[in-house]
Amino acid sequence: MTTKPVNLVLVGAGRMGSHHAENIAFNISNANLFGIFDQNLEGAKALGEKLGCEFITDNIDEIVNHPNIDGVVIAAPARFHANLSKYFLEHGKAVFCEKPAGLTLAEIEETSAAAEAAGLPYQIGFNRRWDRAFADAKAKIQEGAIGSPQQLRSLTRDPGPWGGDPFKIPTWTIFYETLIHDFDTLLWLNEDANVTEVRAIADALVRPDAKSHGHLDVATVTLRFDNGAIAVAEANFCAMYGYDVRAEVLGSLGMLQMGDVRKTNMTCYDKDGAKDDTWRADSHIFASGYTAQIRAFADAIQSGKQTGPNGRDAHRALAISLACIESIESGKEVQTNI
Ligand SMILES: NC(=O)c1ccc[n+]([C@@H]2O[C@H](COP(=O)([O-])OP(=O)(O)OC[C@H]3O[C@@H](n4cnc5c(N)ncnc54)[C@H](O)[C@@H]3O)[C@@H](O)[C@H]2O)c1
Repeated sequence: MTTKPVNLVLVGAGRMGSHHAENIAFNISNANLFGIFDQNLEGAKALGEKLGCEFITDNIDEIVNHPNIDGVVIAAPARFHANLSKYFLEHGKAVFCEKPAGLTLAEIEETSAAAEAAGLPYQIGFNRRWDRAFADAKAKIQEGAIGSPQQLRSLTRDPGPWGGDPFKIPTWTIFYETLIHDFDTLLWLNEDANVTEVRAIADALVRPDAKSHGHLDVATVTLRFDNGAIAVAEANFCAMYGYDVRAEVLGSLGMLQMGDVRKTNMTCYDKDGAKDDTWRADSHIFASGYTAQIRAFADAIQSGKQTGPNGRDAHRALAISLACIESIESGKEVQTNI
């Protein structure tokens, strides 16, 4: 156990990575932003200048060979996650990796094995677990406050107007990168239960012109668990009223609700009726959760004890994403043991 702040390097200085780097630089007392690695050196330099970080590189071996670097925070595109994670773990660096941890179950298994062999933290960016409302709900379920879960729901709606290019984002992104948060949330809230059945329906309703290209931007998924519970997960790339992430668990003794599209509990009443401000970005709604998860990663490096979501959690959530893809392709429900 050491109390010295840990030295972290950001890997991937894009939208999410910049948010993580800023948090590490200014909001996390037990971590230090030691460096930034990106294939796009110019982007990394610009971020480094803004945050006062001078160790900027596009050479991965400069990180793995540096004795003072304790760990990395990976926010590169999903297709690189597993290889990068495994490489850093094999070279003695702890890894925090954004979701999804990989795009196949085999690569997550290999990365988890590398983490185990190295005895190092390997934490996945399932940030909802660190949000106050979601964490409180989990505690209530564990106390038995709502009895046994019977029906669960989790939803993610990105804020509109949606500015993505459907011809550039990889096929199945809605399952690999969006709903994977909801799948982790549902598995985590319905602890110790296995998913036995998955059924997904999806469409391109936001950008119907891209459907023939394989683009999907609206999806609803049903899950059946072996403790009898039934769950629904849904995602939409374009909610014109703002960023909307909510969940609910109805149990034999009560119900828990998490998330609120309203930014504050101030409502403005005027001649037109009542109005609320709504959340517009993930970095706002989950500001404290994003910070808490990296703080927990730094804690894990210091104490040698990981508390955050790990390779097994990544594997289970991805297995549901893959079952969804199978369900879309077959048009049928998929029997699972997840
Ligand atoms: N947890 C969340 O709420 C949340 C929110 C947004 C994004 N994400 C995840 O974060 C990841 C990044 O998303 P983003 O929106 O920031 O993407 P982005 O495209 O904005 O940024 C990716 C960055 O990675 C760099 N890069 C590309 N290949 C690389 C490589 N091999 N090694 C190092 N750097 C490389 C790019 O130059 C770019 O700077 C994705 O996996 C996404 O799912 C998570």
